Amino acid sequence: MDNSVLLSASHLKKKYRIDRKNSIFAVNDVSLDIFTGETLALVGESGCGKSTLSKILMQIIKPDEGTVSFEGKEISSLSERALRPYISRMQMVFQDPASSLDPRMKIRDIIAEPLKAFKIYGTQAEMNERILELTDMVELKEDCLNRYPHEFSGGQKQRIGIARAIAASPKLLVCDESVSALDVCVQAQILNLLKRLKNQLGLTCLFISHDLSVVSFIADRVCVMKNGAICELAPAEKIYSAPEHEYTKYLLASVYCP
Ligand SMILES: Nc1ncnc2c1ncn2[C@@H]1O[C@H](COP(=O)(O)OP(=O)(O)OP(=O)(O)O)[C@@H](O)[C@H]1O
Ligand SMILES: [Mg+2]
Repeated sequence: MDNSVLLSASHLKKKYRIDRKNSIFAVNDVSLDIFTGETLALVGESGCGKSTLSKILMQIIKPDEGTVSFEGKEISSLSERALRPYISRMQMVFQDPASSLDPRMKIRDIIAEPLKAFKIYGTQAEMNERILELTDMVELKEDCLNRYPHEFSGGQKQRIGIARAIAASPKLLVCDESVSALDVCVQAQILNLLKRLKNQLGLTCLFISHDLSVVSFIADRVCVMKNGAICELAPAEKIYSAPEHEYTKYLLASVYCP
């Protein structure tokens, strides 16, 4: 981990209306830095704003207030066109491997999607070579490429999702509950794969999970969110051995079984 900041969020706010009279802050004045090469975990109870925050960081939704900078450049005010080169360097692995893969597309085309969208490879031969390389990186066999998503297990589908996410050589990989839908054994395999790819490719990771035991395996630092705000952000070993905030202690007591 080096000390340069890859992504910086400053005073982000996002309010949602819940009925005619009331609204809630899904994200309420969040500022944080993600350092190049680190894995930052985002934890907190369901509904605390983790996905909303990650979508703002990825420019999928616009905040009501605040800014996001990536590689030192403020990107939150850029036009869609100006944003494209930055978007290719921040990619996402989703929670549900089944619904995040188009059932009508062959695996080859799913993995090729970002390569085509960001016009990364010129010739078909170069593209095919890259697809094979990605298939190998996520430990799938070459013969999977002409098959469809429904022919694969949950763990295999998530490997395909990871291959697609790393295809455009992103700097930042955002994993939103990426192993939550998998059973414990497959979870461990996918976590090991993510950890290996992170080191091999020099990725920076934002790893979102409600499961503190999963987070302890992968995180360098942990950011604890409650009601749209950060209540504690510290190195993982500090969070687990000497949590400061009452809410962090509560989360550890309720979820983490040493
Ligand atoms: N598009 C939307 N419209 C209205 N309310 C929304 C919208 N998206 C999120 N919310 C609300 O914002 C709050 C934060 O939601 P968010 O999905 O970010 O939480 P989360 O921490 O990711 O939860 P989970 O762990 O269940 O995935 C919730 O109260 C949710 O109902
Ligand atoms: Mg979520």
